[in-house]
Amino acid sequence: MAPLLAGLLCLASLATAQTSGTFNAMTMNVAGLPPILNGNDIPGDKTTNTARIGQLFSEYNISIIHVQEDFNFHATLYANDDHPFRTPTSGGVPFGSGLNTLSNFDWTDFKRIKWNVCSNFDSADCLTPKGFTFMRMTVAPGFTLDAYNLHADAGTSAADLKARAANIKQVSDYIKTYSAGNAVLVFGDSNTRYTRADDNPGLFAAENGMKDVWVELAKGGVPPAPGSETLGCSNPSTTTDCEIVDKMWYRGSPAITLNATRFQYAGNQFLQVDGNILTDHDPVLVDFEWSMDTKLSVGESFGGVDGTWFNDLDALAAASSAKISTLTLRGADRVDAISTTLSTGEVLSHGGTGGTATTLTLNSGETLQSAVLCRGSKNNKPRIFSATFTTSAGRTLTAGKATSDCATISAPSGYAIAGFYGHDGDEIDKLGFIYSRV
Ligand SMILES: *[C@@H]1O[C@H](CO)[C@@H](O)[C@H](O)[C@H]1NC(C)=O
Ligand SMILES: *[C@@H]1O[C@H](CO)[C@@H](O)[C@H](O)[C@H]1NC(C)=O
Repeated sequence: MAPLLAGLLCLASLATAQTSGTFNAMTMNVAGLPPILNGNDIPGDKTTNTARIGQLFSEYNISIIHVQEDFNFHATLYANDDHPFRTPTSGGVPFGSGLNTLSNFDWTDFKRIKWNVCSNFDSADCLTPKGFTFMRMTVAPGFTLDAYNLHADAGTSAADLKARAANIKQVSDYIKTYSAGNAVLVFGDSNTRYTRADDNPGLFAAENGMKDVWVELAKGGVPPAPGSETLGCSNPSTTTDCEIVDKMWYRGSPAITLNATRFQYAGNQFLQVDGNILTDHDPVLVDFEWSMDTKLSVGESFGGVDGTWFNDLDALAAASSAKISTLTLRGADRVDAISTTLSTGEVLSHGGTGGTATTLTLNSGETLQSAVLCRGSKNNKPRIFSATFTTSAGRTLTAGKATSDCATISAPSGYAIAGFYGHDGDEIDKLGFIYSRV
């Protein structure tokens, strides 16, 4: 389909777009190490147990599942599950990370990232390349969710505590850069406990504006004090009052209200036919509801995924009713940079310093309504080669050189272009649009 036509079809579908919904998410350590390395004290045979786990994943039709220790029984798990979107395995022990995602939602930007620090002191954490994964899921048009799976360092020696705290910090830092302005879910085997004074499961709340669903829904918003007595769980647990190391944290965004509505230790729904457990970790299952903001909304994007993530959404939400007063494009052969000055005086700039600058100053009441972006390939990666913006008064601003691969992106009726998200470096790799109600 011609890109222009595709753009028009996307626009048409905005009118009937979904603006609220529900989904659920689960994390489960599936205990898939070869039995000779770790039998996990689970009765029965691991192949049979893994097959049942896969069948139950499908039967319950859980929207997003993160698994850890999905090593040597991975093929059996996938053969018995039928989620439409699943990560390819990174391998068994000692090659893989054991981290995989099974989902009803598609994604982009999938990455596997190794821990910078691991410790072999207690439990051979450096044996496999453990770490975390990142993906940007499309829950609905206009609602992307950055989903992180993790398996942090185990053990309680000083070296393990230090490595684990560094692992959690690494994910928290990554979120600051790569999930700026986005809704985020972190769920996995954190190996952390609030009661262990040297663990830092509170970091995502302190640094990333996230909530731990267990703390929110099972503990009335108050985590156990560091160093306080651990209330251990049986497996499966009959109560959510006790703490396990498998956890889920979340946040919405200025464009998406996201709320956890139910927290469960779901082990009693994942049992062998004879009632025995399937894995030594009680899975954590959470129900969410979401709705789109009516003032700020996230639109389409065009381009490639090279470069670094940027997002004006947090700045726009903080500047409340600010409007764009000037738009500046830098370009020559391609689009080098895009920047806006808000009515508050704040400048939001993306890209580099090459090309020639050209600026459009909007008149009172004049808004940016649409853009034609053309894309091409630089160093075998897609980049934005040209951009032409049109205002509500029909004036235009253009930069770069057009190609034959172009898209027209327009603000929905009643909205104007308020800012941007995307990927940049010296130039603009991808440009996405944020709209605000006029
Ligand atoms: C699973 O749930 C989704 C909605 O989240 C639905 O579209 C899909 O048809 C369901 N799949 C099965 C196999 O029931
Ligand atoms: C959802 O969370 C927001 C804050 O993120 C809060 O204002 C709102 O009341 C919550 N809604 C429900 C139904 O809990």
